[in-house]
Amino acid sequence: MNVGTVISGDDTPNSSNFSFVSTKDYVPFLGDFLESQGVVGQVVEIRKKNSLYEDPSTVSEFHNISKDFPEDDYHNLIVDCIILSPGEVITPKPGSVVVKVSEDKLSKILGLNETGLNLGKVIGSNLDAKVKMSRLIQKHLALLAMSGAGKSNLAAVLIEEMLERKKQDGRPAVVVLDLHGDYKGFASSPEYAEKTKVIDMSQSKVSVDRLNPRNLEKWSGASEGAIVEYSKIFKEFQGQEDRSFEKLNDLVKNSGINPKTLMSLESSLNELNELDVFASREEQLNRLVKNGSLLILDFTSVDDFRKLQLLASTYITQLYRLRKENKIPPLMLVVEEAHNYCPERAESDYLARNILETIAREGRKFGFSLCIISQRPNRLSTTILSQCNSFCILRIMNPNDTKKIQESCESLDYNYI
Ligand SMILES: Nc1ncnc2c1ncn2[C@@H]1O[C@H](COP(=O)(O)OP(=O)(O)OP(=O)(O)O)[C@@H](O)[C@H]1O
Ligand SMILES: [Mg+2]
Repeated sequence: MNVGTVISGDDTPNSSNFSFVSTKDYVPFLGDFLESQGVVGQVVEIRKKNSLYEDPSTVSEFHNISKDFPEDDYHNLIVDCIILSPGEVITPKPGSVVVKVSEDKLSKILGLNETGLNLGKVIGSNLDAKVKMSRLIQKHLALLAMSGAGKSNLAAVLIEEMLERKKQDGRPAVVVLDLHGDYKGFASSPEYAEKTKVIDMSQSKVSVDRLNPRNLEKWSGASEGAIVEYSKIFKEFQGQEDRSFEKLNDLVKNSGINPKTLMSLESSLNELNELDVFASREEQLNRLVKNGSLLILDFTSVDDFRKLQLLASTYITQLYRLRKENKIPPLMLVVEEAHNYCPERAESDYLARNILETIAREGRKFGFSLCIISQRPNRLSTTILSQCNSFCILRIMNPNDTKKIQESCESLDYNYI
């Protein structure tokens, strides 16, 4: 179907854009895929033009003689497209015909794949958007949009597709940090219940063994002097049979250190104990993370910010270690509301930030990919965003968020966002 003719604009056609005047019976939509002289483009802007009204000084005169110059004869729809053949310096000639692109060609250009994850329909076509899984989560995936735009829904679709994959096509495990219970439906659905496990994080514990001097400093802000003394006490604790919080407390109490340091250490430990999260043992995730299965870490009932941070950082750290030791299969960790864990500014309260940044930088080597979901890209760690190789961007209005996405993903044209 002929949809228009390429026009010669001020600086188009060029190697990245062309514009055309549309035929009367084509109704253009943003996102439509079209081609001219074999060059495939996507509609990014639609403008109306009327040569009668180009010169402001003569506009009023046309109203008087509009009978002789019917406006509609001069009305044109101009459609701007960006070219989707990266690297190729080709562009259609002015005057060439623009047509709808064939589905075969579109499928090739978009790199769709029969065994890929079906994320919906390609805009303006009947093609299933089957994206090759290895491409999508080769490194990390960022799913960004304003609140209510459908991020969690898209992530759920992605998870369904991963759970439904055949063994021979490769089935990574999926783990979700679920803050608002958006993914609980998997546990009650007839199709996925068997493959899904949910851990109520409000009942989860962190092993006292993790209270090493480095973590005590990070988690409680204990003074340097107190940490030096604590190092000796913690060594002794590690040699004990009883590794409860009470035992650690006893050892501190009876350590004979000077009263001021003792008071500071005791207050740090008390503060952590109030979170009611430490126990001799913590849940081991290796039995729960399996190929083609979903593990939901359900934080819905965890109201305390520090407890959330502590649990998230501990369990992400455990997952990363297990993966590095090959005790769990390759996995994708879905981080909902990621700005709650890895903000742009290095604030010490956000305990999971370091481990998430480490995974963003090095996870790919170990088959550990992240799916970062956020409604506030502008508040997200740049280190993490810039390590993402795939972006699913839904509706975004805030210009600061748009700017941040463009900075993190250089190959993305601003018009796309
Ligand atoms: N593709 C879709 N088609 C129809 N409805 C959708 C689609 N995606 C999401 N919705 C609906 O839109 C609403 C918001 O979706 P969702 O919870 O996924 O948004 P969100 O971006 O995760 O929001 P938030 O930032 O608040 O977490 C839901 O009621 C959901 O059912
Ligand atoms: Mg959501």
